[in-house]
Amino acid sequence: MTVPLVFAHRGASYDLPEHTLAAYLRALDEGADGLECDVRLTRDGHLVCVHDRRLDRTSNGRGLVSARTLAELEALDFGSWHRAATLAEDDAPLDESHTRLLTLERLLDAVLAAGRPVRLLIETKHPSRYRGGVERRLVEMLRRYGLAEPRPDHPVQVTVMSFSPLAVRRVRELAPALPTVLLLEMLPRLLPLGRLPFGSRIAGPGVDLVRARPRLVPALRAAGNSVYVWTVNEPEDLELVLETGVDGVITDRPAHALARLGR
Ligand code: G3P
Ligand code: CA
Repeated sequence: MTVPLVFAHRGASYDLPEHTLAAYLRALDEGADGLECDVRLTRDGHLVCVHDRRLDRTSNGRGLVSARTLAELEALDFGSWHRAATLAEDDAPLDESHTRLLTLERLLDAVLAAGRPVRLLIETKHPSRYRGGVERRLVEMLRRYGLAEPRPDHPVQVTVMSFSPLAVRRVRELAPALPTVLLLEMLPRLLPLGRLPFGSRIAGPGVDLVRARPRLVPALRAAGNSVYVWTVNEPEDLELVLETGVDGVITDRPAHALARLGR
């Protein structure tokens, strides 16, 4: 059996508010090999870690993330919704790490300060809306941090992901050495050959697709790709992907996956 890497999806986001520093630090404490994070642009061009287009679900703000400046987003609470939504019994006070907007810069600083190897999967959201701006800003920032190409001696390894083949192509043009994942919700026509477009060597199918197409993962791997599957939260899904032999499991519950793997 291949022993997959375990990636914390939006941090340890089952237990703590997604995309907050607290959720990411918890995942690292639990022993996750890596962290998954979505990035999008603010009105004034900053990369922030927010999944949804709108603020409504994960903050006390309303409207589009892209319509707000960084300063406006910094004034919002990105954590209290989680406790209310899950009716968590834990009444420990929330601190800034649970409620403050996370910028990509702060996340990079945190992983660099972690003092241990961390694999970072960064997913660019809405590549067409931003007309390539999100990929450009991301690569610029990674260059500033010395992370735009893999360095075997460096503890932090970055991989960029997108559902959009166009976004993957942009990243590969801007930073040819940066590994990329093409995320898959459905089976594109090219995949029967096991070949991913634009030189990606990692496929990222959803667990529903893996369930529906049991031969997909072996076919992708036989063609020389690695396979990272999202979002594997339920025990039966974890068994399925382990049986299938994937290279990475992306989950909201890294501690569960690590325990199942005996780690
Ligand atoms: O890790 C890939 C996965 O995050 C893609 O779906 O909607 O959670 O960004 P989504
Ligand atoms: Ca994502």
